[in-house]
Amino acid sequence: MRRGVLVRVVAVGLAAAAVAVAVALLVPWLPTPASTQADRIDFVFWFVTAISIAIFALVSGVIVYAVVRFRARPDDDSDGAPIHGNTGLEIAWTAVPAALVTAIAVVSAVALAENDHLPKHHIRVNVTAQQFAWSFSYPKYKGLTVSTLHLPIHEAVELKMQSKDVIHSFWVPQFSQKQDVVPGITTRLVITPKRLGTYPVVCTELCGEGHAIMRTEAVVQTPTAFAAWVKAQQKLAEQALGGAGGGPGLAAFNSNGCSACHTFKPAGSTGTTGPDLDNLATYARRAGKPLVAFVHQSIVDPNAYIEKGYQPGIMPTTFKSLPKQQLDALVQFLTEAKK
Ligand code: CUA
Repeated sequence: MRRGVLVRVVAVGLAAAAVAVAVALLVPWLPTPASTQADRIDFVFWFVTAISIAIFALVSGVIVYAVVRFRARPDDDSDGAPIHGNTGLEIAWTAVPAALVTAIAVVSAVALAENDHLPKHHIRVNVTAQQFAWSFSYPKYKGLTVSTLHLPIHEAVELKMQSKDVIHSFWVPQFSQKQDVVPGITTRLVITPKRLGTYPVVCTELCGEGHAIMRTEAVVQTPTAFAAWVKAQQKLAEQALGGAGGGPGLAAFNSNGCSACHTFKPAGSTGTTGPDLDNLATYARRAGKPLVAFVHQSIVDPNAYIEKGYQPGIMPTTFKSLPKQQLDALVQFLTEAKK
């Protein structure tokens, strides 16, 4: 009799476990990890999932068996037999969950500590978040500032993140970690990319009207390709320095996030959220303004003239507080840089 009970409970439990395992494995819950940190987070995820499936199977087995075996017969109105506590069972259902929760806490703490560890050999990238763009600056390469995050594979990178306005949050799904970027403090994140590819950088904290478009890309490259990219970016900066507007103009363009939304050949940017800045002269003509005055106005008061096909209220109005020097360099770069 007792044996028969056990067999039935185990059979239901195994069936429930099979369904849960199928749901866990067949649905792509998490993207394929692209960093060693993401691997550790994945491990914690699967560790917790395995425990959850085991508990789900046990609970389903007992519940289904009890519902079927002990249900009231149609004309049976009597009370069930009185039962008293079961000390052994109570100790078990206290001790086992306590042990499991402790195990999850330890595994999570180890993963967090390891993910926080910065190897001696690493590069540093300063990340700036603002409504509604990301910019990345590489102190190792004379402060090279760009709007897409490029990383060499297998080399740890320390992101030091600051916000210019409100709280944003840095997230690359394939790197798993999320980190808030908070005005007034510098937050950090360590990433060791292990898979080549281009991944989305997403702002995952509601930060205003343009929150949904506050996206860019993280590109993981071979060390050779990364070095070539750095060289190309530096050459671009040099060209801008030689041309009108100079380096400060390009730096302002990149560090204020312009490149995230606008295409502008002299800056090598290809954003399509806002109008293509290679055609500023045409827009100025349409707006009926001299080019320099038009560009200046469009930066400090972006809603004054909206180019056909674009929406008002998308470009932040925060650029009116740019220091005059930066604003002038930016206007000069936009109006005079060689294509
Ligand atoms: Cu920045 Cu949402």
